[in-house]
Amino acid sequence: SNPSLLILPGDGIGPEVMAEVRKIIDWFGARRGVTFDVSEDLVGGCAYDAHGTPLADATMAKAQEVDAVLLGAVGGPKYDNLDFSLKPERGLLRLRKEMDLYANLRPAQCFDALADFSSLKKDVVAGLDIMIVRELTSGVYFGEPRGIFEEGNERVGINTQRYTESEIDRVARSAFELAMRRNKKLCSMEKANVMESGVLWREVVTEVGKDYPEVELSHMYADAGAMQLTRWPKQFDVIVTDNLFGDLLSDLAAMLTGSLGMLPSASLGAPMENGRPKALYEPVHGSAPDIAGQGKANPIACILSFAMALRYSFDMGDDATRVEQAVEKVLADGLRTADLLGEEGRAPVSTSEMGDAIVAALDAS
Ligand code: NAI
Ligand code: MG
Repeated sequence: SNPSLLILPGDGIGPEVMAEVRKIIDWFGARRGVTFDVSEDLVGGCAYDAHGTPLADATMAKAQEVDAVLLGAVGGPKYDNLDFSLKPERGLLRLRKEMDLYANLRPAQCFDALADFSSLKKDVVAGLDIMIVRELTSGVYFGEPRGIFEEGNERVGINTQRYTESEIDRVARSAFELAMRRNKKLCSMEKANVMESGVLWREVVTEVGKDYPEVELSHMYADAGAMQLTRWPKQFDVIVTDNLFGDLLSDLAAMLTGSLGMLPSASLGAPMENGRPKALYEPVHGSAPDIAGQGKANPIACILSFAMALRYSFDMGDDATRVEQAVEKVLADGLRTADLLGEEGRAPVSTSEMGDAIVAALDAS
């Protein structure tokens, strides 16, 4: 049967960038004979407008059935005053929680044509291609006890860093599997010098590593890792770390390479019956209400998220590379959406012009 894909464009620029992904999907049907069973549904503010909830049960059920979910972005000023449980973000959180997506993949990849755009020296970032795997469902953002409590005559704010062996084991396995598909090099980051959860993290990752003897495993304290990531990021290939450190390190690594409009992500869960992991792909950026409806959005982050789906959900790694090379090509040709221009006086291309150019580059490939 055809690979199945649920598309959730969401709010703001979400539908605009997703329209460009549709062009790529159509290209695969017309030129490569690969047909995806695509269904489309609502998430976020638009779902609230239609159903009074940011994610309808029927949409949630659909997400559990398909091979992969591709999401645009959710949110906008119109929904800022909604009750917490009805906010657009709750739709996204529900997807992540009920699909149990524990491994968040954040690539930091530098397209040569944009190397000047980085805040780091060109030779430090040119050709950079690393992947951070962040644990997404546990750790200090979820651990109990948590809260603000009275203690004597003052208050105390408490959060708890908590990891079970099985939580570490499963995200470590995702990272090792990824390392096997890439350059067989994995660096695990924690703070085993000052945190017991870090000691356990290091032990379990080392143990899982015995199942992957081909992967060269190293360990680094997360603060030293932050230094090394800015000093010489190319020393890394895959990095695996917990929820908190991963939040910081993945944002840091992302900005090594430039604009928010360029950054894809994937969140993976346990393997399904067909062997594919539960998966949600989405650009890192939000709904960008400041530019929504103006044809200014950069569709590349969403297009690269689809490329990740090709690679990690559909075993179409060569086609994923093709899409990435088409992106590289249009950037090398000088095409830039407004977010990639900074102070330069050049004329930007629109969202749809960028999408069309990428399809044309695919055609030529
Ligand atoms: P944002 O990522 O939407 O925008 C930040 C800045 O980057 C804006 O100036 C925007 O114009 C620009 N930008 C973002 N994506 C771009 C693209 N593809 N092309 C060109 N420029 C782009 O973050 P912000 O402004 O903090 O949040 C706006 C709304 O999005 C809020 O409602 C927020 O809750 C929501 N949000 C949703 C996320 C999601 O759906 N995963 C993630 C982050 C924020
Ligand atoms: Mg963050």
